[in-house]
Amino acid sequence: MNLDWENLGFNIMQTDYNVRAVFRDGKWSDLEVYSEQTIPIHIGATCLHYGQESFEGLKAFAGKDGQIRLFRHAENAHRMSISAKGILLAVVPESLFMEAVEKVVLLNKKYVPPYGTGASLYIRPLLIGTGPEVGVRPAREYTFLVFVMPVGPYFKEGFKPVDIMICRDHDRAAPLGTGHLKVGGNYAASMSSVAEAHEKGFATALYLDAREKKYIDECGPANFFGIKGNTYVTPKSHSILPSITNRSLQALAEDMGMSVEVRPVPVEELAEFEEVGACGTAAVITPIRKIVDVDMEKTYTYGDKYQPGPVISKLYQTLTGIQNGDLEDRFGWIKILE
Ligand SMILES: Cc1ncc(COP(=O)(O)O)c(C=O)c1O
Repeated sequence: MNLDWENLGFNIMQTDYNVRAVFRDGKWSDLEVYSEQTIPIHIGATCLHYGQESFEGLKAFAGKDGQIRLFRHAENAHRMSISAKGILLAVVPESLFMEAVEKVVLLNKKYVPPYGTGASLYIRPLLIGTGPEVGVRPAREYTFLVFVMPVGPYFKEGFKPVDIMICRDHDRAAPLGTGHLKVGGNYAASMSSVAEAHEKGFATALYLDAREKKYIDECGPANFFGIKGNTYVTPKSHSILPSITNRSLQALAEDMGMSVEVRPVPVEELAEFEEVGACGTAAVITPIRKIVDVDMEKTYTYGDKYQPGPVISKLYQTLTGIQNGDLEDRFGWIKILE
């Protein structure tokens, strides 16, 4: 496969195959392989009208040995089942989810970016209500599908510090809403504030808790964390997505001898961190250079403009080293696909 692997952005790209299963009459079909990129859909499908959908995002990496490594896909399978229960979608059995992910990666293995290019294969599972309803109620039919594409960094800066903006005039999720689920409505709700952040020259928006605007929630499509001395601090909130990357970084931080605090993080604490970052499958770790609280006329600045801080750099090297097989996987996070 001849692609400009080093210069891929985070963009949609057609690959050869996707896999699909349908939930009908109370049970899931076997997986089927498709090359079409479209789905015929009933005009009354609940995913179109009422946002009855959930998606996931995970990655596969090629190692120096050429083997393909999947990172923690059982966790994504579990999170999709939580999302499904949260908005009354048919739950995809976690074994079916994992089988679909493994199958679609192997079918498209020529698109897995080679070791050393900095790119990876992004895997997008999707679960949608395809049965028609006109009243607001759950569909009786669902489609689960998984497609893939090679990607580069989510933020164009890659592993370089970015500036972000605190968003005070929009909420992405309500205090007792669906922010902890990976469902489309949260992302629709975030689009205007992220677009505003981009227009103002920022990489993304940092959300505060919707109830009081006192605590940090999360950072566009990524969780937030800060480093204070020997402590890794990250927000605890019902309205943020439980990030698998964040959980992995917490384990790595503990393994490096740091303490980990998962708790409400007041906005003013931003002044006390030595390093801060955004983390997620797509963002990996994106170091943050500056956080601007436009409405409060306050700016928090961290470290060097071009160089990520030492703790974030070490976490990044360790996480990506495990993902591409350069470092031993002592945590059982990797599945090598044969
Ligand atoms: C809103 C949001 N927060 C956080 C994350 C990071 O989660 P993960 O590390 O599981 O990719 C994502 C991406 O999945 C996200 O969309």
